[in-house]
Amino acid sequence: MEIKTQVGAIQEVAAELIVINLFEGVTAPTGATAVVDRALNGAIRELVEAGDFTGKAEQAALLYTHGAIPAKRVLLMGLGDRAKFNLDTARRVAAAAAREARRLKVTRYCTIVHGAGGAGLLPEAAAQAVVEGTILGDYAFTELKSDRTGLDPRLEEVTLVQFSADQAPAAQRGAQVGQIIADSVCLARDLVNRPGNYLTPTSLAEIAEQVAAEAGLTSQALDEEQMADLGMGALLGVAQGSNEPAKFIILEYNIERRELPAYVIVGKGITFDSGSISIKPSEGMELMKDDMSGAAITLGVMRAVALLKLPLRAVGLMPATENLPDGRAYKPGDVLTSMSGLTIEVISTDAEGRLILADALHYAKRYQPKAVVDLATLTGACVVALGHVTSGLMGNDAALKQTLLQASATSGEKIWELPLYEEYAEQIKSDVADVKNSGGRPAGTITAGLFLQKFAQGYPWAHLDIAGTAWADKPNGYLAKGATAHGVRLLIQWLRDLASAQ
Ligand code: BES
Ligand code: MN
Ligand code: ZN
Repeated sequence: MEIKTQVGAIQEVAAELIVINLFEGVTAPTGATAVVDRALNGAIRELVEAGDFTGKAEQAALLYTHGAIPAKRVLLMGLGDRAKFNLDTARRVAAAAAREARRLKVTRYCTIVHGAGGAGLLPEAAAQAVVEGTILGDYAFTELKSDRTGLDPRLEEVTLVQFSADQAPAAQRGAQVGQIIADSVCLARDLVNRPGNYLTPTSLAEIAEQVAAEAGLTSQALDEEQMADLGMGALLGVAQGSNEPAKFIILEYNIERRELPAYVIVGKGITFDSGSISIKPSEGMELMKDDMSGAAITLGVMRAVALLKLPLRAVGLMPATENLPDGRAYKPGDVLTSMSGLTIEVISTDAEGRLILADALHYAKRYQPKAVVDLATLTGACVVALGHVTSGLMGNDAALKQTLLQASATSGEKIWELPLYEEYAEQIKSDVADVKNSGGRPAGTITAGLFLQKFAQGYPWAHLDIAGTAWADKPNGYLAKGATAHGVRLLIQWLRDLASAQ
């Protein structure tokens, strides 16, 4: 989708469709909405007075202009309660407008920047949010449909129309940033939605290489022999049951600029999780193609960091393998030796994510990072605890967790802390090895976090359990049904905050 910005009055724009807005409960519109209302002989007031349009957030009403203004149609969007309006509302409203346009098979339209006028948002942030909402709302995963005739067309061009010329440069900057971020989210969503027979560790490595070349990152993918040389016994243990070769994908940005602080993102890249010998029930198992969400998000974040040219060093680590049962697969009771030297008793082959992350977290140490954040669809227990709205946050450093919570508030991607109290570590003590990979059902998200903590040594570290948030069972706001890539916007915001605080 192409995003443009333009200065002017929206009621004067010639377009198939213009998008304007109204807060809930407003009977006398102001600004552009008032001008359009007057041009249309009070049609908007009439809608409101008849009770057909309340202005509830994401509500949409379509009006025809009969030549009264140059635009053919007007889409009036509800902004909801003025007191509750924020950047996330702007994003949701923009997404609803994009979906409405697609339903009308309109592929180009002009929109005002929700929130930049009377609602008091900064024009740059509002433009970013509107662009993010528009691109994310337009998102659909259709690449495997052989018959495209019934599909709604994708948006081709959306123009933000800004009344104040003073605010235009800020709106333009925000729109550019929003496009980079939203395109990175869509990239991650595509990878997650892609089934396991299309997205293998090898194809993930190839895509990472391509994205890296386009965005200005360096990339490499270690093969199993190189992993063996490094002693990555935990990752290789999981990979044993699969015929697809495992890959350890490394993306680096600004890596030679040693004067800049380094941040490492680690993403779980299980391209399909059957549970292996501790096999999962077959019902719903198809969703386990999303078990590489952490890796996809890592790739999305790294792409954006490079395109935004953030003044820091960033590294993305994506350990990638399938988790499948086989005559050669690893088994419950096996003991694996991780790269860190710690030995791990395998209680469940379905607790594979923490094994591949163990080696990646140890590998991260070589960058002497200022912080390491990992993302993983790690535990079903996190879905029970926080549902599909909020990702679990754990970590060993209060200041780091605080900066993540701050970025969460700004980006609207919700996270909530769970405690890594030492008492829970009793549950992962092994009789035969240094640690075991399952602590049983109680506090399953926390014991997984404590397991990771043993390998995240020597740097500030945070872990995001995205098991509940990576996938949406139904469309909601700017989320389509399917992959959400929850975490891309959060971590880009986090890194932008860090870059600007330097
Ligand atoms: N990928 C799953 C976690 C998961 C479950 C994500 C449901 C999304 C939805 C992970 O590898 C797993 O199987 N975890 C086990 C751990 C247990 C065996 C200690 C779990 O949560 O049941
Ligand atoms: Mn599993
Ligand atoms: Zn898994």
